[in-house]
Amino acid sequence: MINVAFVCLGNICRSPMAELIFKNMIEERELSSSFNVTSFGTSDCEEGNPIYPPAKKTLIMHGIAGNHIAKQISLFDIKNNDFILCMDNSNYYNLLQLAGESYAHKVFKLCSLTDNPRDVADPWYTRDFERAFADISDGCRAFLEFVLKDRAEAINYDKRH
Ligand code: 4NP
Repeated sequence: MINVAFVCLGNICRSPMAELIFKNMIEERELSSSFNVTSFGTSDCEEGNPIYPPAKKTLIMHGIAGNHIAKQISLFDIKNNDFILCMDNSNYYNLLQLAGESYAHKVFKLCSLTDNPRDVADPWYTRDFERAFADISDGCRAFLEFVLKDRAEAINYDKRH
């Protein structure tokens, strides 16, 4: 089992989009039983709120449904996940502070795994939810390819048992 947490600032736009996009990708490849996937915000500013409606609408336009309630990440969550995948430099430095030296190796920017490393710009400010969807999808594809190579044994074990 591979535990994956997507992280942004508020946990109402980018990281719940990433959670649902990645869940959809692994479902299509019949890999859902090998992963636990969730998402968090570095801030508690949106704690308890559902996915922001324009983000949810963008997902639905791409055939992806699902719900999420915003929650703030804690050190406990960092300890309990194998990969912490965030959206931008600000998330990254906030997470490194929380993770400390012991867990810093778990923290990545999602699109740093692609051929074109970049931040996922915050659509809360840019209003470009399609751009966020495209960048997050690219990052999720790259992460899945990475993990299928890097953690192939864990996934094959889960598929057999
Ligand atoms: P997210 O976007 O980090 O992609 O969920 C934001 C949502 C809400 C706020 C900031 C960013 N806010 O300031 O409330």
